[in-house]
Amino acid sequence: MIEYYVADGLAVLRLNAPPVNALTFALLDALVADLRRAAADPSVERIAILGEVDFFSAGADVSLFRHLATAADAMRVCRAFEAAYRAIEDSPKPVVAVLAGQTLGGALELAMACRWRLAVRNARLAMPEVKLGLCPGAGGTQRLPRLVGVKAAIDLMLTGQAISAERAFELGLVDALIPNAEIETVLEAVAKLPNREKTRDRKEKLVDVTGHRVIFAEAAKLAAAGRREVVSPVEIVEAVRVGIEESFEAGLGREQEAFCRCAATSAARNKIYVFTACRETAKTPELTGVQALPVKTVGVLGLGTMGTGIAQAFVAAGIPVVAFDLDARAGEVAVGRIRASFDRRVSQGKIRPEQAMAAVARLTLAKEESALRDADLAIEAVFENLEAKRAALARLESLCRPNAVLATNTSTINLDALAAGMKQPDRLVGMHFFNPANTMPLVEIVRREDALPAAVATALRQAKTIGKTPVLVRNREGFVVNRVFIPYLKEAFLLLEDGADPAAVDRMGVEFGFPMGPLTLVDLAGIDILQHTDAILRSTFSYHGGPAVIVDRLVEAKMLGQKTGMGVYRYEAGDHKPRPNLEAMKIIAESRRPNASPPGDDEIGRRLVFRMVAEAFRTLHEHVVTRASDLDAAMVLGTGLADFRGGIVRHAQDVGLEHVRDVLADLAVRYGERFAVTQ
Ligand code: COA
Repeated sequence: MIEYYVADGLAVLRLNAPPVNALTFALLDALVADLRRAAADPSVERIAILGEVDFFSAGADVSLFRHLATAADAMRVCRAFEAAYRAIEDSPKPVVAVLAGQTLGGALELAMACRWRLAVRNARLAMPEVKLGLCPGAGGTQRLPRLVGVKAAIDLMLTGQAISAERAFELGLVDALIPNAEIETVLEAVAKLPNREKTRDRKEKLVDVTGHRVIFAEAAKLAAAGRREVVSPVEIVEAVRVGIEESFEAGLGREQEAFCRCAATSAARNKIYVFTACRETAKTPELTGVQALPVKTVGVLGLGTMGTGIAQAFVAAGIPVVAFDLDARAGEVAVGRIRASFDRRVSQGKIRPEQAMAAVARLTLAKEESALRDADLAIEAVFENLEAKRAALARLESLCRPNAVLATNTSTINLDALAAGMKQPDRLVGMHFFNPANTMPLVEIVRREDALPAAVATALRQAKTIGKTPVLVRNREGFVVNRVFIPYLKEAFLLLEDGADPAAVDRMGVEFGFPMGPLTLVDLAGIDILQHTDAILRSTFSYHGGPAVIVDRLVEAKMLGQKTGMGVYRYEAGDHKPRPNLEAMKIIAESRRPNASPPGDDEIGRRLVFRMVAEAFRTLHEHVVTRASDLDAAMVLGTGLADFRGGIVRHAQDVGLEHVRDVLADLAVRYGERFAVTQ
């Protein structure tokens, strides 16, 4: 767990707990034992704590947070960490941390308790607790401001963003940059370190008392402006304030209280659940022992919006792409867009110019379709139409090697219908990317009953390779995200038919945790798209009921959303702001169901959310996903649903399954089978 040796008076403690040196109670115990051993060894003058070459540590083991049932459990975690870090800070032989690669959360708190910090240039330092809905619990809110100043400390803890070794050096979080973490380099650097007091006694960054008051007031205001469910930002600011205005010890006590309060919220539990759920999706017991096929080149057929984004995602991840579109102009536009997107990333400082050039150079825009023959994985991303996709797959089949994997990026079509015309249908898999494909983190990997396991494993591996989260789904209309989300969007229109105000419907979608309301979203995506996908779902799932009248009428009137300047709302050229649309309001008024009483906010929220809950449980019942948490991960990643909500199944569990059953039964009586309770 920890390697220990002594070199030239330096006791080296190297964390060795793969894969990420997550800090457990056992690791902390071992660390403290080794500190004592070093203290007792007369040949040791100083102590160094190191990690792996590209990984210092990912911080506290997240599973410690998953099992915090009571405030006492949370306090026990804080106290265990604090005791270990105090032992580091109070060590009679000063301790230096040598940081390389990821140094996150509890690991950075460990480093801050050391007397000095050396960092290799590849180090990435962050305090990501806020992303899990937590407050740092091992002294971070106290030691960080003493090292970098109050403002920078609050910024780091409220954003959770990682900073580079250089930035950490500029801020004073790191004392020196070193070329590598080899022992000779460390010995040389340690010899040059100045004498230094303990972090908790450092005061040089804390002199501007008036300035601090302003910073605290501003930060508290900013923190309070966030979602009321997520308390960690407010708690973090308050813990820092107490530590600066009162004392280190008082701040530490306030921090521990804050950690316990945060840990008790469902927002934190749900965020931690989503963190784990997103990593579980890649574990597919049904594919154990199946080898993914090697992929050197990816082919993309069709360079519309989706094909372009998919091609970009692969080249950005270092995989060569050969792309083709029957329309030569579309191909050129696609290349221009990819180039412009990389250029933007360069100007934002996210990548270096040479990385952008290398990525663009990996893309070959083919003049002939036959160039796709070299692809090990060929993805068709042509127009979402059965015949067009069948034709595209037939062409790929005739071109590509028999062992190449063929993927379709369909969002709605049943893969069996696509496979029907193929000679080797078992090599067809679905890779459903979400728009924009280069940035959206989710890919649904659709598995047909008779798909070759190696083909499915290859698609999964490739999605992981390009940094996406793959979710394996059964081949069933709508797969998982659209299956659950489209009914929610449709319910928004059914609510309008019952007299709900569009603004209230949108407000309740945002209240639940979506980045925008359902009507605004449909206006953005296109009302015709909702009409089309709903028709596909309805034809398979008769309990979805008939079409939404308002959707049909708006499409008839060519009010398709932002792309036509009018949808539920009206848009001015070059402006995405939704404004009232009197023409749409007229259609909505004419489509009102007779005798329906306008629903209030609670009823709107209930119908929107429980429509998803009902569909999610049907989806689980049909084994569309391997586990419920896959559905939740997919909804968070595919729709932008806030992770504090934990997803749809998780939300149902949070409000209580008996309550869910009662509400669904009531809604089913009033609105029909689409709300019916399933097994
Ligand atoms: N505790 C326990 N396990 C952790 C962990 C942690 N803090 N951080 C990562 N892991 C595990 C992951 O669950 C995954 O396990 P698996 O292989 O069994 O699925 C493995 O380490 C690799 O993580 P993954 O996220 O898939 O790799 P990555 O290279 O994309 O990202 C990190 C690595 C560390 C950047 C990312 O996992 C991360 O941000 N972790 C959270 C760190 C955090 O919030 N720490 C604060 C705690 S105080």
